[in-house]
Amino acid sequence: MFPRDFAWGAGTAAYQIEGGWQADGKGPSIWDTFCHEKGGVFEEQNGDVACNSYELWDKDLECIQQLGLTHYRLSLSWARLLPDGTARQVNQKGVQYYNKVIDDLLACSVSPMVTLYHFDLPQALQDQGGWKSAGIASLFDSYAKFCFQTFGDRVKLWITVNEPHVCAKLGHEDGIHAPGLKEPGVAAYLVGHNMLRAHAMAWHSYDAFYRPTQRGAVSLAINSDWFEPLRPGRKEDIAAAERDLAFTLGWFAWPLFVTGDYPEIMRSAIDSQSEMFGYGGASRLPRFLKDEPAILGTADFFALNYYTLRKVKAAGGTGQMCLKNDRDAEEVLDPSWSICGVSWLAVVPHGLRKLLKYIKDTFNHPAVYITENGFSQVGPVQIEDVQRCGFYRDVISEVAKAIGEDGVDVRGYFAWSLLDNFEWADGFSVRFGLFHIDFSDAKLSRTIYHSGQEYAKMIRKYKKAIEMSAMYSSSGNQRVSKRIHGRKCQDKEA
Ligand code: GAL
Repeated sequence: MFPRDFAWGAGTAAYQIEGGWQADGKGPSIWDTFCHEKGGVFEEQNGDVACNSYELWDKDLECIQQLGLTHYRLSLSWARLLPDGTARQVNQKGVQYYNKVIDDLLACSVSPMVTLYHFDLPQALQDQGGWKSAGIASLFDSYAKFCFQTFGDRVKLWITVNEPHVCAKLGHEDGIHAPGLKEPGVAAYLVGHNMLRAHAMAWHSYDAFYRPTQRGAVSLAINSDWFEPLRPGRKEDIAAAERDLAFTLGWFAWPLFVTGDYPEIMRSAIDSQSEMFGYGGASRLPRFLKDEPAILGTADFFALNYYTLRKVKAAGGTGQMCLKNDRDAEEVLDPSWSICGVSWLAVVPHGLRKLLKYIKDTFNHPAVYITENGFSQVGPVQIEDVQRCGFYRDVISEVAKAIGEDGVDVRGYFAWSLLDNFEWADGFSVRFGLFHIDFSDAKLSRTIYHSGQEYAKMIRKYKKAIEMSAMYSSSGNQRVSKRIHGRKCQDKEA
């Protein structure tokens, strides 16, 4: 089912694995600050060392090779490259580090997919208002141009921003991610808006200045669950599921792929709640300005992070002006689904197929990369992670069905994650890795889980099938040419 050139990948993010938080001139990021200001993260843990990939990159590369990945998704730490967030001061050691990573990958025939922003804003830019300030878009654009210029001769797949929804909501509404702001009902929409503006500016820069020579593709990674009405026959549940999807996937996908603006259901829900709470002035959901770079059409592919499925019913208001109240949808986990590790993560691989089909039908049949999907464990951790092996088999088979039966143009699958790592507010207690890391051992040795072996087996099987089909078609060609040649000879003889 999987096309030739399908990307078999795994992903990581700089803050979650690199460590070296002050090494060689790196500037602090909002996650450094958030973790050091105690209280926000499980057992006050932090990413100061994490998997120490800054020093142990060679070990990561061995893991990548052991899995047989064709692609590896990594993120760049903005503050490692530009310590104060601006190109006024470039940290050459940071440039060297990522150059080595990219060159090593390519030398091993692994293509990098590079995320420019995976949650770790330079603290210096947060001090100037961070993602809430309009000026962040052009600062991001300059950073993006610096990265395209420096690495774009070798990197052909770019993600500008990872999961704007998570940054906006968890970081600026709930305050459980950096920068830890709790400004319900207002800041998240502003942050999401500025992330879209920043993305669009960077896409236009790539398109105008780099694409002609570099010939890569740029997108923004959207996270979304699949949502279904709890009671499929009830109108209010159907409407709640639609709202939930609009407030998650639609929030970012509608502007990029459909209208250049937010979904109408989202705007009308927000505006009617504003009215209810007597919130005056402009809509809490900002508007895109005509004289700014267009948003519509600024994604060269659909980058999807999928983790789970939710059943939804109407919630009936929280009594407070906030995002949850605006979306008015209560999410329920079906008790028949098993939960892996964290409470939000029910194991429902078939939700991915449904979401992929929805994306094909709604967004005009885009090329899709599944940029994240995974299964977590909490202690006591088992290297023989039988359940996760089953999960990967099931989910890959759902992707195969989406391609083969539903005709979705899926170009790649990136497991989250290559390594056990710093799982944000859950610290090291939640493990998504295909490789286990013993965080209590200074060597931080990497040990493959059985699920890692299972994933490697699937990749090997795919590569073998591609090889065989190439062999058949070339030996078929030889046979055909022999036949033709033979007939010519016979004809001559005749
Ligand atoms: C995503 C995030 C990743 C990882 C994953 C698992 O939201 O992009 O960094 O943490 O969730 O929870």
